[in-house]
Amino acid sequence: MIDLADVHVRLGQRDVLRGITATLAERRIGVAGANGSGKSTLARLFNGLALPSSGTVTVLGEDTRRHAARIRRRVGFLFTDPDAQIVMPTVAEDVAFSLRRHKLPAAEVTRRVSAVLARYGLDGHADHPAHQLSGGQKQLLALCSVLVLEPEILIMDEPTTLLDLRHSRLVAEVLRELPMQVIVVTHDLPLLDGFDRVLVLDEGRIVADATPESALGHYRKLMA
Ligand SMILES: Nc1ncnc2c1ncn2[C@@H]1O[C@H](COP(=O)(O)OP(=O)(O)OP(=O)(O)O)[C@@H](O)[C@H]1O
Ligand SMILES: [Mg+2]
Repeated sequence: MIDLADVHVRLGQRDVLRGITATLAERRIGVAGANGSGKSTLARLFNGLALPSSGTVTVLGEDTRRHAARIRRRVGFLFTDPDAQIVMPTVAEDVAFSLRRHKLPAAEVTRRVSAVLARYGLDGHADHPAHQLSGGQKQLLALCSVLVLEPEILIMDEPTTLLDLRHSRLVAEVLRELPMQVIVVTHDLPLLDGFDRVLVLDEGRIVADATPESALGHYRKLMA
């Protein structure tokens, strides 16, 4: 559950978000909009990576201005560029690194890492150098490293940009199955089929907030 109350974000000389008020409680929420409309900035507000210049962002009952570190442990964030997220030499080590703060027995870490890699088809790559994976496989690895932490909310910024059709479909299927609240920023509109709610941003404001059909219809008109 995320609540935004009259949120403005000013970066440099630019008003990037302008008066955003919304309560995000649905399980599957999409965010669409033109390049530069403020989507990534909005996503970064959801886990305290960005802070409002004015107004309040409340995530799982906590103000991001005061509890950003705690919120980041409960809210997973998947960046567009998986290279920004891969930190360890091998695939399995990278996923295990996510669990370092959990102080789990080594056998339990191994079990969880193997399970998540198998789920996303990376079990055959466990001992391979992470940076030698293809772009799509890196994206899946980054997803594994976030999901192994079982976050309460998952934020994804363009998770299918680098993926082929098969892997995009896998991500779409994963999104349908994940038990936690998921908020997805995307230009891949079919990914939002079946979502509970879609927000459309334009020049830092929410200009549509409705079902996927209705919101994306508005977005297509806006782009025409
Ligand atoms: N640190 C910054 N300083 C100044 N302007 C910034 C900064 N970060 C982002 N912006 C500006 O804010 C606007 C919104 O950026 P944002 O990345 O949120 O857009 P977006 O909707 O995610 O776009 P895209 O679809 O291209 O990913 C852009 O005009 C961008 O140039
Ligand atoms: Mg963006």
